Amino acid sequence: MQNVIELFSIKNKIIIITGGAGMLGKEYASCFADGGARVVLFDVVDSPKLPKSPDIRYVKVDISDREAVFFAVAEIEKEHGRIDVLINNAAMNPVPGSPESKSQFAPYEDYPQELWKKEIAVGLNGMLFMMQAVVPIMKKQGSGSIINISSTYGNVGPDNRIYDSGKFKSVGYATIKGAVLNFTRAWASYLRGTGIRVNTLTPGGVLAGQPAEFVKKYEERTILGRMAEKHEYNGAILFLASDASSYMTGANLVVDGGWTVW
Ligand SMILES: NC(=O)c1ccc[n+]([C@@H]2O[C@H](COP(=O)([O-])OP(=O)(O)OC[C@H]3O[C@@H](n4cnc5c(N)ncnc54)[C@H](O)[C@@H]3O)[C@@H](O)[C@H]2O)c1
Repeated sequence: MQNVIELFSIKNKIIIITGGAGMLGKEYASCFADGGARVVLFDVVDSPKLPKSPDIRYVKVDISDREAVFFAVAEIEKEHGRIDVLINNAAMNPVPGSPESKSQFAPYEDYPQELWKKEIAVGLNGMLFMMQAVVPIMKKQGSGSIINISSTYGNVGPDNRIYDSGKFKSVGYATIKGAVLNFTRAWASYLRGTGIRVNTLTPGGVLAGQPAEFVKKYEERTILGRMAEKHEYNGAILFLASDASSYMTGANLVVDGGWTVW
């Protein structure tokens, strides 16, 4: 039997994280670099502030651009010869109160078509292109772990009572995050017999400077009575990326403080 520390080992693994310059992407990157992996972050930000580590590298890639995705992934294969883990983490997820969140929280009848298209382009098209570029490499090596990031609102409908009156959690966001669950199952099924596992991680809301009123209402909706700290998904992501989850594919790991329990 494998030693318990080895079971969770990601040492020397090559890991791509999309949306890697964002709040949670950076957390995952630090966690993996600590564990001895080499991490490549894909994002659209110009000069991101990233954790300082020789094992974390940044590549500017718009994942909604299929050609750009294939080019960037091929470069990584050239450099490292393999890709062990892919984390499809990029999405549009503005913090309540930010300027972009205004149109994201529009009544559904008025939901802007451009925003809808953009959300789908990043959250679904981007995820598809990443799979199409990375899976052939994983097939050649006969192994790989792919983690697609959903959200509480991919598992249940948004509770609009926790937002300011007249604000409604993006129908685009809820649609995409729900689709991620079956996107994962479809790919897991398709990749039967290849050694590649595909799972969803469902994080709950992270405390990140939201208005106090919102935080209070959010807290009341969870069993644990609080929002998550941004590091609290590191254990789950490590589990899914490593051999510790070797008998798991097509599944959804829910880490939401108990939001969906009642
Ligand atoms: N923060 C939360 O409370 C929370 C809760 C549940 C689920 N999630 C999910 O976790 C993931 C990460 O969330 P986060 O809070 O770190 O969000 P974030 O907004 O900080 O990070 C998302 C990143 O994706 C990048 N991105 C957007 N469009 C892109 C594109 N076309 N190509 C490449 N990168 C692109 C953004 O630039 C950003 O850096 C998201 O999928 C989000 O839906 C977050």
